Amino acid sequence: MADQLFDVSGKTALVTGGTTGIGAMIAKGLVERGVKTYISGRNQARTDAAAVELAAAGGTCIGLAADFADPASPAALAAALAERESKLHILVNNAGAMAPGALTTSTLDDWDTVLNVNLRSVFFLTRELLPLLRAGASAEDPARIVNTGSIGGLHVPNWEAHSYGASKAAIHHLTRSLAKALGKDHITANAIAPGPFPSNMHDVTSEGTQKAIDTYIPLKRSGTAEDAQGAVLFLCSRAGSYVNGHTVPLDGGYIAAL
Ligand SMILES: NC(=O)c1ccc[n+]([C@@H]2O[C@H](COP(=O)([O-])OP(=O)(O)OC[C@H]3O[C@@H](n4cnc5c(N)ncnc54)[C@H](OP(=O)(O)O)[C@@H]3O)[C@@H](O)[C@H]2O)c1
Repeated sequence: MADQLFDVSGKTALVTGGTTGIGAMIAKGLVERGVKTYISGRNQARTDAAAVELAAAGGTCIGLAADFADPASPAALAAALAERESKLHILVNNAGAMAPGALTTSTLDDWDTVLNVNLRSVFFLTRELLPLLRAGASAEDPARIVNTGSIGGLHVPNWEAHSYGASKAAIHHLTRSLAKALGKDHITANAIAPGPFPSNMHDVTSEGTQKAIDTYIPLKRSGTAEDAQGAVLFLCSRAGSYVNGHTVPLDGGYIAAL
């Protein structure tokens, strides 16, 4: 008998920032397990190409364009999804941006990019998608929100990333406040806080990151697709349905060992 505890087949998901990096890892894990998975990225053609690749081995993946620097994009993305689906079971708010974060040289534009993409869009997209999430939720099988935070929101690293760290600490807190507000609707909200994972944003093969991994991460390695997929499958299946309002560090022990 197939194990029902971690089964997510038949659900519908949206993974923002699903074109590359951690979002693509998460989306692939869902597609492979029978979840009809929408991904978003800034450019429609690139997002379509990523969706085709993610579904190459079977399953369904559909690309939708949204640039979260645009304040109108969360409502537009939610409307595009609502044209295609009447229910959403899984929302992974993963899209993220990094900009120079030094105290003395950060610009207003740097600050706005990071905060708007990493934080503002999560709040407004979640709000816009509440009708679909409520329609996909039940007491036995809540709808799930998984936000991608960061260990950068759990500690202050040895380099300056003020806006990024603030955006991610805020995501962890927003996760708690969403959990409190939405529990009555049978919607859970949790976050993952990745350590170093290979992506466009993070070259984990760089000398600096390799040194940080050797120095600070007890498991002495970066994260893998399976590490991201396993955490999200747990949070989105029966196994994780009573977990609500928490941030799960995915960091090989980095934060625990500080
Ligand atoms: N990799 C790590 O070590 C690490 C560690 C902790 C947390 N994180 C977090 O993990 C998440 C994914 O990042 P990643 O490391 O996988 O980096 P990535 O490969 O650069 O992926 C970022 C994703 O976000 C999308 N995106 C970027 N700017 C956007 C915007 N203005 N509007 C809409 N979508 C946008 C990108 O889509 P397009 O480029 O296709 O538009 C892409 O799909 C982020 O929230 C990041 O902060 C990463």
